[in-house]
Amino acid sequence: MKRLRILITAGPTREHLDPVRFLSNGSTGRMGFAVAEAAAGRGHRVTLVAGPVEVPTPRGVRRVDVTSADEMARAVRRSFPRADALVMTAAVADFTPVKRARGKIRRAGSMTLRLKPTPDIVGGLAKKKGRRVIVGFALETGGSLAPARKKLRKKGLDVIVANTTKAMGSPRVAATLIFSDGRTEGLRPMNKKALGRRLIMEVERRCRSWKASSSV
Ligand code: CTP
Repeated sequence: MKRLRILITAGPTREHLDPVRFLSNGSTGRMGFAVAEAAAGRGHRVTLVAGPVEVPTPRGVRRVDVTSADEMARAVRRSFPRADALVMTAAVADFTPVKRARGKIRRAGSMTLRLKPTPDIVGGLAKKKGRRVIVGFALETGGSLAPARKKLRKKGLDVIVANTTKAMGSPRVAATLIFSDGRTEGLRPMNKKALGRRLIMEVERRCRSWKASSSV
């Protein structure tokens, strides 16, 4: 298999209200790091854009650390043109404060936070994907696959990994893969490293079939 350039995102983002406080979520980054380790293990060139997490960088992986959704968007857009595939495991914050205070906000009765949406990183890039393979994740609180299916279509992804919030912070995941042709594949519960290897297999298969169809 030819060496691919695989761009991976991992972890949460932090949206600061002031220098000490932020909005974020409980993503540990382990899923994205597992995908990066699997990709590097297969000899691919890997760039891992990571939010604030406490996970060691897998061997052979180029890591770019970011904090906010905006910074993650910039880092991903910079590497995307040279990438063959993007695997977007990051739990990007959906909202960010309209204003970030320069100094610490003092306690003074109740307060109202005004938030604005962050850029949809993968949704924006999928529009100019060309032959790149794009894998997204959908973390849902309910058991239905409908929201994940909708995200796959709306964002223009090739594959979406649907899992439940139980996967957050847990070493094991019971995920379902949903493909752009409508097929679904329920995976047996497995650890994140095994799922990482499974996803890299999928990326390789898709990159190979692009190559094959373009050489006819
Ligand atoms: N994602 C992204 N940019 C964002 C939010 C999400 O690129 N600002 C990516 C995630 O990395 C994931 C996919 O989009 O691969 C789905 O993320 P999810 O949070 O489940 O979906 P949302 O677009 O946030 O939709 P909703 O808030 O309705 O769940």
